[in-house]
Parts: sequence; structure tokens; C-alpha cells
Amino acid sequence: MRTVRTVAELREELRGAPRPVGLVPTMGAFHEGHLSLIRAARQENETVVVSLFVNPAQFGPTEDLAAYPRDEQRDATLADAEGTDILFIPPVDEVYPPDHQTYVVMDGIATILEGSPDHRGPGHFKGVMTVVTKLLNMAQPDRAYFGQKDAQQVLVIRKLVRDLNMPVEIRVCPIVRDKDGLALSSRNVYLSPPERERALALSRALSAAEEKVRTGSIDRESVLAAARTELDAAQIEPEYLELRSAEDLSPVERVNGSTLLAVAARVGNARLIDNTMLGGT
Ligand code: PAJ
Repeated sequence: MRTVRTVAELREELRGAPRPVGLVPTMGAFHEGHLSLIRAARQENETVVVSLFVNPAQFGPTEDLAAYPRDEQRDATLADAEGTDILFIPPVDEVYPPDHQTYVVMDGIATILEGSPDHRGPGHFKGVMTVVTKLLNMAQPDRAYFGQKDAQQVLVIRKLVRDLNMPVEIRVCPIVRDKDGLALSSRNVYLSPPERERALALSRALSAAEEKVRTGSIDRESVLAAARTELDAAQIEPEYLELRSAEDLSPVERVNGSTLLAVAARVGNARLIDNTMLGGT
């Protein structure tokens, strides 16, 4: 594995590299979720590029940019062990030089849920879309890999690529969970043992909703009530708990073929998100 830090070096490494090229964008602090993306990229491509960049543009002013976990050495070892060819770790001013002035914004689905001013705000996806656009332009991969853990991010990126006619295939990998159900997240390190216990209510809430649907209750109220009961038991007040169309995130009254149940909640110092697809075949 080669580690590079500038766009020029990345391009040099990629010149003549065998295609297809798969890119896995990350912010590091690797866990099995990240590694599952690298594995998928390894299986499907001749060259695997992993980017590790804690993107300041997607963090709000009151968010955890400074505290975000970083361990470059460990990440490099793990990426190498998964067969990464090129690890791209740019410093902030390589991605955002002082004269950087161009940003990518989206109406509609980037302005609700995580993008709503009540939650992470419109700047969040602006930051995500800008850095993803830049990373795609820097590496020019044939495929790029994202996790369903960030379901709205996946929809936003799919739409970004469609709307701007970007020549890349977006591949999505399933949510990786701990044995007890907690969705893996770099932010789980913020949880104390008792908080981690309480945080299990998120995945329990999703499972309770899945169970409701399995037993035939598909109306919004029953599904959300089942989920809400689990959150209440752990004294978790969600930032949102929403049933939405998995296609365009519009609200739905009943579960149909592709319905997303998404939850966000603060547990201690960690802001956690989780989701599940309901009513699938
Ligand atoms: P980060 O949170 O580091 O996540 C990198 C990728 O790993 C994302 O596509 C995310 O959805 C995926 N991922 C995280 N936890 C997962 C889990 N438990 N199971 C499966 N996949 C998981 O998401 C970002 O970084 C950034 O927004 C980024 C896209 C890199 C842009 O800065």
C-alpha cells in the first residue's frame, strides 16, 4: 500500500493503475463498517483507493470536529490488511486551500432530516457534497463505496451524481452492527459503558418496528409507537424518528415496498443515527 497526501501524488499513483478503480471515502477511525466497504471495493475493482479526511466543511460550529477520533497509524495498518492499494490522507489545506470558494449545494432532500436547521443543518450536506465531489474529481474512480448506515447521505450522493452527470457508479453496503445490535460508528467511542447500554435502544426501536410490520401493522402510528416505546424505556428523546419513502424521503402514512425508518438521538456526548428499511421483500 502506498500512502499519499497530495492530489498530484494521488494522480501520479493512479496514472496507468489497472481499472476499474474503486474509491472508499472515509473520515478514519476505522471499524468493521469502514472495512466492509474496503472489502467490497477490493472484490469489485483492480485498484482500491481509500481516502481518509476529517472534512471540516461538514461539521457545524458546535459539532465535534476537534474531538473527532483520529488514529492514522491504526487506520493505515487496517487499510493495508484489507488490500488497499492507495491510502490518500490529504491535509486540510490540500483540500481547502485558503482561496477555496466553490461549494456544492442541493435543494430538497439535502435540506430535511439531518440537513434541517433543527438537526445538523443545511451546511452538513453542503460539506459532504463538496468533499465527495472533490474526492471523485481527484481520484476519478469507476466506483465509489458508501454505507447504508448514513441512509440520507447515500440518497444525497446518488442524487448529486445523477444531477451533475458524474461518471461514477455508487455502490452501497449494508449497515454493520455489533453483536448486541448497536450500529458501528466512529462516534461510539464517546459513549461510556452505561451510555452504550442506553444507546442499544436505537437498534431495539428499529427491531420493534420491524416486528410490528412483520405482524401486519403497517400504519405510521403503530410502527412509530412500537419504536418509541423502546426509546422511552431508555429515556431517549430522539431528535427525529421518521417514516419516509426510501426513494425521496417524503413522509409516508404506511409502510410499502421501500420505506425507511430513520432515527437520530443524542446519548451522552454522542449524536447517533440509525435506520432500517421496512417492508422489503
Ligand atoms: P465516515 O463516517 O468515516 O464513514 C465512511 C463510510 O463508512 C460512509 O459511507 C459510512 O456510511 C460508512 N459507514 C459508517 N458506519 C458504518 C456501518 N456501521 N456500516 C456500514 N457502513 C458504515 O460518512 C462519512 O465518513 C463522510 O460523510 C464522507 C462520506 C467520508 C465525506 O466526508
